[in-house]
This record gives sequence, structure tokens and C-alpha cells, in this order.
Amino acid sequence: MNRLFFLITIAVAGTVVVATAFAQQHRPYNQIMKDVGYTFASLKKNLDANSAAAAAADAAKLEGLFTETEAFWAPFDTKDAVGFAKNARDAAAAVGTAAKGNDIKTAQASYSAIQKNCASCHFAHREETGKGFLIRP
Ligand code: HEC
Repeated sequence: MNRLFFLITIAVAGTVVVATAFAQQHRPYNQIMKDVGYTFASLKKNLDANSAAAAAADAAKLEGLFTETEAFWAPFDTKDAVGFAKNARDAAAAVGTAAKGNDIKTAQASYSAIQKNCASCHFAHREETGKGFLIRP
């Protein structure tokens, strides 16, 4: 009986810890990244097609997603990751401004600036396992 009580206590404590971690994480990180990947591909397609309005909409969505990315990294105190997320958000804002002004060339340049930050953050903080990706804070 005592042993059972002990196990239940452990199970409850474990649930609380996991629940707290998830509450702080807002939504699973890979969902944010999947949205980022999808929106970033759509942005490229729209820029290449000179669809300025659609590109501006994608850029605005990316801004929000990178704000979410930054919020995820902030509690780890992983300063370079927070910086990559911030730079990516600023570059997304620049894409949006240029696209709204119908300046696709400048928008493409800022698109490349976003991409640099994807690559830098993945190089430093993403681990390929063969079955998927892991976060390396
Ligand atoms: C601040 C760091 C950071 C930035 C910036 C970042 N990523 Fe990621 N990304 C990660 C980490 C860490 C993972 C691995 C964890 C995961 O998959 O959830 C990841 C995973 C991914 C995945 C795989 C998602 C899955 O699990 O299926 C895609 C796709 C992706 N990123 C696309 C992008 C693109 C495109 C950009 C830029 C437009 C970008 N990321 C910017 C950190 C970042």
C-alpha cells in the first residue's frame, strides 16, 4: 500500500513538472518551425512571382512567428538564438515594408537576410537525429 502511494506521488509530481514546462513553452516548438518553414517557402514563391501583396502578408505572418520563436528561447537564456530570432523578425519586417512599396528587389535581399538566421540558428541549436530534429539549447 505504501509503495503504491509512493508511485502515485511520483506520477503526480511528474505530471506537474511536465505541465509547467509545456505551459511555459506556449505551443510545441516544432509546430512553430513547421509554420515558419511553410510560410518562408510561400514568401519565396510570392516574391519570385512578383506578388507583392501576398509576399507582404507572408512577411507579416513570419514576423509573428519569429516573435513566438524568440519567446521560446528567452527563458533558456540562449542569447545567440534569441538574437537570430530577433534578426529574422527584423528582416521579415523589412521584407514587408519593401513588398508593400512594390520593391521586390529589396524584398528579395531581406529574404536572404532571414535565411542566414535560419541557417545560423539551425547550425548552432538544431540536431539531426535521423528520425527528426532535436532542440539543443
Ligand atoms: C532561433 C533559432 C531558429 C531560427 C531563427 C529558425 N529555426 Fe528552424 N528550427 C530550430 C530548431 C532548434 C529546430 C529543431 C527542433 C524542431 O524541429 O522543433 C528547428 C526546426 C525546423 C524545421 C523542422 C520542423 C520539424 O520538426 O518538422 C523547419 C522546417 C525549420 N526549422 C525551418 C526554419 C526556417 C525556414 C527558418 C527561417 C525562415 C527557421 N527555421 C529559423 C531553430 C530555429
